[in-house]
Amino acid sequence: MCGIVAYVGPKEAYPVILKGLKRLEYRGYDSAGVALLSDELKVYKKKGMVADLEESLVGKDLHAHIGIGHTRWATHGEPSDRNAHPHRSASGKLAMIHNGIIENYGQLKQELANKGYSFSSDTDTEVLLHFIDDIRENNHCTLEEAIRIALRRVTGAYVIVILDTESPDTLIAARKGSPLVIGIGKGEHYLASDASPIIEYTKEVVYVNDYELAIIKPDELILKNLGNEKLTPYVQKLDMELAAIEKGGYEHFMLKEIFEQPHTIYDCLRGRLDISSGKILMSGVEQHIEQLKNANRIIMVACGTSWHAGLVAEYIFEELCRIPVEVEYASEFRYRNPVIHKGDVIIAISQSGETADTLVAIEKAKEQGALIFGVLNVVGSSIARTSHAGAYTHAGPEIGVASTKAFTAQLAVLTMIALKLAKEKGTIDEKRYLHLLTELHDIPEKVQVILEQTENIKKIAEKYADARDFLYLGRGYNFPVALEGALKLKEISYIHAEGYPAAEMKHGPIALVDETLPVVFVATRDAYHEKIISNMQEIKARKGMVLAVISEGDETITKMADDVMVVPVCDEIVAPMLNVIPMQLLAYYIGVYKGLNVDKPRNLAKSVTVE
Ligand code: F6R
Repeated sequence: MCGIVAYVGPKEAYPVILKGLKRLEYRGYDSAGVALLSDELKVYKKKGMVADLEESLVGKDLHAHIGIGHTRWATHGEPSDRNAHPHRSASGKLAMIHNGIIENYGQLKQELANKGYSFSSDTDTEVLLHFIDDIRENNHCTLEEAIRIALRRVTGAYVIVILDTESPDTLIAARKGSPLVIGIGKGEHYLASDASPIIEYTKEVVYVNDYELAIIKPDELILKNLGNEKLTPYVQKLDMELAAIEKGGYEHFMLKEIFEQPHTIYDCLRGRLDISSGKILMSGVEQHIEQLKNANRIIMVACGTSWHAGLVAEYIFEELCRIPVEVEYASEFRYRNPVIHKGDVIIAISQSGETADTLVAIEKAKEQGALIFGVLNVVGSSIARTSHAGAYTHAGPEIGVASTKAFTAQLAVLTMIALKLAKEKGTIDEKRYLHLLTELHDIPEKVQVILEQTENIKKIAEKYADARDFLYLGRGYNFPVALEGALKLKEISYIHAEGYPAAEMKHGPIALVDETLPVVFVATRDAYHEKIISNMQEIKARKGMVLAVISEGDETITKMADDVMVVPVCDEIVAPMLNVIPMQLLAYYIGVYKGLNVDKPRNLAKSVTVE
């Protein structure tokens, strides 16, 4: 979704904001803008990438020590200069940036129109700004008070940051449902949607909570609730290095993140998986071990790629722990009045920790008494703070819009949780348990082996890049991998792709098969191996092209398939962590071959903070 950056302090604000917007561009990239306040309030905005804004500002007066900036992912109104943020109030005194959606903006807009306001954009943001401005002008109150009054009327999600010509050294920000981090420097403050624009200046940050208002001057940060009571800011130290958010010589963040996976999976296992003692140490699990192991039911709640991790986990938890598992799209779960009992455990899976649907889904389940356990990548994120307990994936910042390393880290965490619970419950025998610990331990090395075959996958990608459609098939643990492969391909290459359980193919999708259709089989050795070979034969018999992810040494499929991508032999339970790697590389290289912006595919945003 949109990205927000703001600065107040002794530095020139514009370069800080511009650099921050570039770091946040993965969140939204259809337009960008800045507002800078020195002798006067200057607002510049432009449709397109942050670089387009930068180019349009060459030669302009950009001097200021306070300013706000925004990169947009359109919700209300098409991407255009006029709909880009910041917006300016009718009085001309205020400029505002906003991330989120004001749901009742239509009603507010009508009220303002009745009072004679006109609008220069189609956005809900401009409506909220006029509303705040109107309250301040008519009630003769402070901006802070006007914001509080306005926000009590607003439904929806927001982070807003406002610049005011009447208080030229002060930024006011407020949040509900969208993320906001404040970096504390020496006599200066940085505001951003996540820590990436802040990290190079300071590691001391405050995460603003819902219904909080921040009044920020160069050397002062005041936090209040909407009832005007002062709160003590909780200052945290960022555990992140600048190098983690830079490309480090790779052509794209996505490729860098694919190649980081041996390290990210290792980091995720490190300190948790202890082969020598045969133990898995996870404090979040240990604190709630009774509730977790005695759960009546586990419900995995997530979206997109994280939902696919939940599907893999369903197979693993049911197999190893014998606990019934349901996997829910958070967007459906939150609206459909689900039956939740006290003994239920919700596992919320999210890379960003800010996905609006997942956040609201767990809030609802929490109200009904479920234990909420987060499997999350971003420390201090909204879902992390809403969960009772959790385990971080430690994959580091994921900048490429398509999720790669977060997925494998989610699988590593979920597998460890399942193994730990199975051991506690006694639903796994010692031999299998120890075998799976070793299998998990060996994953980073095996991922490295797959990455060494990148050139082969690149060639395969180029061979099939002009296909119009793709079908992805898998069985058992590999079925969710097929779904993930199809999702990666459509996101990155804009080629239509569908994932199915391989056996389901004959109930409809097989009608699509002809000599132009590449069918990707995730067909490593597992309990279903013979069956998936039969499915492959069904495709070959109809002249479909078969690309297969296979285990090392699988001569049968090598002879049958048009192309193969080989992965090291492993237990079927950990196989998805390996088998998804060729899927990621295939999608990546097809996208690159087609000349597309793989890090920022059209219409997508990294952190989906609107429903
Ligand atoms: C796909 C992708 C999305 C996200 C989904 C959930 O590559 O990145 O499908 O997985 O938007 O996001 P998180 O995990 O941040 O909740």
